Amino acid sequence: MIERTLVLVKPDGVQRLLVGRILARYEERGLKLVGLKLVQVDREFAERHYAVHRGKPFFEGLVAFITSGPLVAVALEGPDAVAIVRTMNGATRPAQADPGTIRGDLAVETAQNLVHASDSPETAEAELALWFRPEELVRYGREIDRWVLAPEGA
Ligand code: CMP
Repeated sequence: MIERTLVLVKPDGVQRLLVGRILARYEERGLKLVGLKLVQVDREFAERHYAVHRGKPFFEGLVAFITSGPLVAVALEGPDAVAIVRTMNGATRPAQADPGTIRGDLAVETAQNLVHASDSPETAEAELALWFRPEELVRYGREIDRWVLAPEGA
């Protein structure tokens, strides 16, 4: 099933000059970039994005961190994109993230774990609607897709 999902390369990724390398991993996997922007979010927007975490002990720190500098919002598309991206990112706690994952290779702290990704297709739809206007999500074909995607009906 072709899905779309939201990834944020958080402010630590931008400050550590890891944006290109992180995006390259998703591209090399075969996922298609369908939306991309550098943004500095304010408190009100951050609280909307992290609404499910409101009331948790780490909520204040989370909002402070995500608003501490620019981040890169990315929309990715591909078969099972939500699950593939979650697997590539690794466990939320970097100590539990497998080597070969973004967090398992590049992060040591839960609060500074470089990336956020939607955790279900339903969340992805809501998060993409929050972060991107419809016209910012681009439909286009790629020549390589015949080598990446199964043929229709296969
Ligand atoms: P993210 O996928 O962006 O969603 C919620 C974020 O909360 C999570 O990644 C972590 O970066 C952050 N966080 C900070 N502290 C904790 C914690 N104690 N437990 C879970 N998540 C935490």
